[in-house]
Amino acid sequence: MDYSKSKKYDTPELRAKIMGPNPVKLAEELLQDHQIPAGARVLDLGSGMGLTSVFLVKEYGFHVVAADLWSEPEENRKFFAEMGLAPTQIEAVKADACALPFGPETFDAVVSVDSYNYFGRDAAYLDRHLLPVVKPGGLIYIAIPGMMHDCHADLPPELLLSWTPDQLDYMHDPAYWHGMVSQSAAEVLEVSEMQSNEEVWADWLACENEYAVNDRKSMNAGAGKWLNFIRIVLRKP
Ligand SMILES: C[S@@+](CC[C@H](N)C(=O)[O-])C[C@H]1O[C@@H](n2cnc3c(N)ncnc32)[C@H](O)[C@@H]1O
Repeated sequence: MDYSKSKKYDTPELRAKIMGPNPVKLAEELLQDHQIPAGARVLDLGSGMGLTSVFLVKEYGFHVVAADLWSEPEENRKFFAEMGLAPTQIEAVKADACALPFGPETFDAVVSVDSYNYFGRDAAYLDRHLLPVVKPGGLIYIAIPGMMHDCHADLPPELLLSWTPDQLDYMHDPAYWHGMVSQSAAEVLEVSEMQSNEEVWADWLACENEYAVNDRKSMNAGAGKWLNFIRIVLRKP
């Protein structure tokens, strides 16, 4: 990956907003060869502090709704204005992915980076909560941290240096995710391992964020060999 688009977002101010392995680079790989038209109304689901949302507006010309549970929409609005974006281009909404405050068929597409694994580990999730707000034919692009092979019954000790077994249950292998999303009405276009791994981790581990510092224990002990990122592409029939 050359990450030609994401490189522009590699500044200390913007790095301070990442909440895990570099989400802008993950979004760029996720959207390689994407089929979402410019001008589309796109839901950035689990947008965090809105870095990927800005990226989606500026680099792809989408109209973005940044929906997130833990971040404060007022802070995200301020950030969007500082980035020169108007409320007609980008909105910030506090929302639980399991109770989305949007009408039926509001979005042409959904992009979700490093968050779907928090709420999508329920076979009923897509049909019950996400597909209803997507237009027929709409595409859903998801990038999540995962495992090369599920090993929850016999966790390697390196993984346990930074994370508890409960936290590691948020990470699974492509077969698990294929099985999960296949139980919905969505057409499964792709579930695959991404190229991005070492580089996006390196960007995160270089941060002085307390979570990044904690993650260094496992990653410096070689836990990266068990981990990956997974790309999921779905279409609403
Ligand atoms: C690791 S952070 C990633 C944030 C952002 N996508 C990024 O990559 O910088 C996980 C995000 O998932 C969001 N999240 C977790 N559970 C959620 C839920 N039920 N509904 C909406 N967002 C949720 C949190 O608010 C948090 O911002």
